[in-house]
Amino acid sequence: MTAEDANSLIDTSKPHPARVYDWLLGGKDNYLVDQQMGEKLPPEARANAARNRAFMHRAAAWLADNGVRQFLDIGTGIPTAPNLHQIVQTIAPDSRVVYADNDPIVLRHAEALLVSTPQGATDYVQADVRRPAAILDHA
Ligand SMILES: C[S@@+](CC[C@H](N)C(=O)[O-])C[C@H]1O[C@@H](n2cnc3c(N)ncnc32)[C@H](O)[C@@H]1O
Repeated sequence: MTAEDANSLIDTSKPHPARVYDWLLGGKDNYLVDQQMGEKLPPEARANAARNRAFMHRAAAWLADNGVRQFLDIGTGIPTAPNLHQIVQTIAPDSRVVYADNDPIVLRHAEALLVSTPQGATDYVQADVRRPAAILDHA
C-alpha cells in the first residue's frame, strides 16, 4: 500500500486509536472526531499516554544497552520524536527496526520512521497484529 492509498483509507468520520493517542500526546496529526473522543477520556489519560511513551523510551534504551539489535515495533503509532529507532540507534547505530501498524494514517507519516543510520536499517509494514504471518513473512 502506498501513502496515496493510505490517504484514501483515512476515515475522518470516526475516531482512530493512533490519532486519539497523538492528540493525547499533544500532536497535530488528528481530527476533530479524535479530539472529541480524547476529551471524553478520564483526565489522567493524557498523563498516562505520556507515561506509556516514556516507558517505551526506557525499555527500548535498556534493550539496546543490553545488546539487542533487532526490534519489531507492532502498534507503532503516528511518529513522535524520538521514535524507537532514534533511541536505539543512538546507543547502537547498527540496530535494525521494523515498524508495523494497521492504521493508514501511520503509513502516511511513515517516512519519518525510515530515516536510519547508515549502519542500521528501518522499515515499515502496514499490517495487523491479528495476522502475524503477514508481518513475519514480509519481505
Ligand atoms: C497507543 S498507540 C501507539 C503506542 C506506541 N507504540 C508508543 O509506545 O507510544 C497504539 C497503536 O496500535 C495500533 N493498533 C491498534 N490495533 C492494531 C492492530 N490490530 N494491529 C496493528 N496495530 C494496531 C494503533 O493504530 C495505534 O497506532
